Amino acid sequence: MQGMIVLGIETSCDETAAAVVAGDRRILSDIVLSQIEEHRPYGGVVPEIAARSHLDHLDRLIAQALTEARCGWDDLDGIAATAGPGLIGGVLVGLTTAKAIAMVRNLPLVAVNHLEGHALTPRLTDGIDFPYLLLLVSGGHCQLVAVAGVGHYHRYGGTVDDAVGEAFDKTAALLRLGYPGGPAVEAAARQGDPDRFALPRPMAGRPGCDFSFSGLKTAVRHAVAALPGGTADTDSAADLAAAFQEAVADVLVDRTVNAIARFREEFPAGSHLVVAGGVAANARIRAVLAAAVAAQGLRFVAPPATLCTDNAAMIAWAGLERLRLGLTDGFDFAARPRWPLDGLSVPSGGAP
Ligand code: KG4
Ligand code: ZN
Repeated sequence: MQGMIVLGIETSCDETAAAVVAGDRRILSDIVLSQIEEHRPYGGVVPEIAARSHLDHLDRLIAQALTEARCGWDDLDGIAATAGPGLIGGVLVGLTTAKAIAMVRNLPLVAVNHLEGHALTPRLTDGIDFPYLLLLVSGGHCQLVAVAGVGHYHRYGGTVDDAVGEAFDKTAALLRLGYPGGPAVEAAARQGDPDRFALPRPMAGRPGCDFSFSGLKTAVRHAVAALPGGTADTDSAADLAAAFQEAVADVLVDRTVNAIARFREEFPAGSHLVVAGGVAANARIRAVLAAAVAAQGLRFVAPPATLCTDNAAMIAWAGLERLRLGLTDGFDFAARPRWPLDGLSVPSGGAP
């Protein structure tokens, strides 16, 4: 019984993605086109280039996603597209395309919050029930959220400055490890000695669930400046990458343990901690978190790396979850550069 079938579209950052997902949690197609090479010369994502590139490729990717899923337009029950938060030019391309398809094919439209896509991914990959605790760690976001139901999110804490993926990207730039930063830092760290440099653990030991990463990045900069010639050679870059990654892992664990204590009190029925977002692709961070979460008596869930980084399967799935609850959006739904998880539309009938 596959239930509904939804086409998802993701264009909020530097991945153009289209996917078809079925209600029985099967991913019928999942196509992600990375723009990394287009942005690499600039050392970061250039919003105008991103929007133009989404426009150039999206139609073809949607056709490909339908072909791979062996789906025609008539097989679809809805169209879901990221409507924010993200780079507004890109979001507009995806959302407008989705509106056009929905209008012409007379299909319901779901305007999906990108963060809700990440937040609901473990229900697609592992079928876990609400409530669960989510650690969302990506390039633009770093937050601990209790997920009580579709649209019901309780934010326990977030970053007061940089997002953790941003800290990885900036650290990679300081160490001249290239772009994108996260995978480059992880690869360098594998060759490094995490104990050669002592880096701070910002916020660790404090009450609450907030994060801070800018001091850690500054500490890396000072460590690089103190090296001979003021630059890191290959060995020093590897050692600093390893020290940075351990510091991040320690901070994530410290804050997550506090969140687990609160989650236990507020949601005694909950039994899972889920990590999602691009940084969850980091094997070392996953391992350290898994051990800490197990020690707290919760089950640890980390979606496969390809579904942790940006993709359209998570958008199709979030759309599917909303459609099942009768939540659809009008063609006047405006793309949003900012859109916090706690500002979402919720099913009528109150919190579950
Ligand atoms: O979720 P995502 O694909 O996009 C956003 O919504 O932000 O996350 C991208 C972020 C980037 O900052 C990238 O450097 C980081 O996730 N990232 C990693 C790894 N792979 C991606 N950070 C650490 N280790 C990795 N292996
Ligand atoms: Zn993301």
